[in-house]
Amino acid sequence: MSAPVLTIDGPSGVGKGTVARVVAQQQGWNLLDSGAIYRAFALAVESRGVDIADENALEEIAKNLDLAFKTHEDSELVSVYLDGRDVSKILRTEKTGEKASKIASIGVVRAALLKRQQDFSTSPGLVADGRDMGSVVFKNAAYKVYLTASSEERANRRLKQLQAQGHQGIMSQILAEVEARDERDSSRKHSPLKPAKDALVIDTTELSLDEVIAQVSELVKA
Ligand code: DC
Repeated sequence: MSAPVLTIDGPSGVGKGTVARVVAQQQGWNLLDSGAIYRAFALAVESRGVDIADENALEEIAKNLDLAFKTHEDSELVSVYLDGRDVSKILRTEKTGEKASKIASIGVVRAALLKRQQDFSTSPGLVADGRDMGSVVFKNAAYKVYLTASSEERANRRLKQLQAQGHQGIMSQILAEVEARDERDSSRKHSPLKPAKDALVIDTTELSLDEVIAQVSELVKA
């Protein structure tokens, strides 16, 4: 029997990454941050100076993407290595998120990165977060969750996160970025952001992180 999979999809800034990490830890399961794959791919394309209209070149880069994830026992952060170089910091910036969102709309890119994502599904189980985990990549997942929250609330969470890291942020600018990314990710032709038909949809606007984690854990334990 194949290992159980829990998919957590939703728009940017909804907190799927944190929920996925905590539930994976609780269950002792593997973790797939599919957004990190698209982000690293966008960086690889940029560093090679490839024109994004050149689909053959994009496919080639996707197939040979030299990407490694390293978890740390003493920290909740996951380091990401691209071509042997630690790119964790630049990977998490909004600028890289936007580049990833643009390149992720290209069909050949999604197809070339599909198997790499599916290969994360190994024993004893997997928690996968992204935009199309439940609708495309792990269609047969045993557990599917779709997290949403108003764009204002997501921008607010992002602002607080930046401030906690000692950075500045302008609410109106963050809100505009969140909404632009929602629009691009939801309106694209290939694997648009949307809940899988059989996903449990949780509106987290009024919920604390602990409450969301509790609901998701409940689903897996049930
Ligand atoms: O989850 P994230 O912010 O790290 O994702 C960055 C971008 O990558 C997101 O705006 C769209 C793209 N993405 C995608 O198209 N499909 C996924 N499964 C994950 C991310």
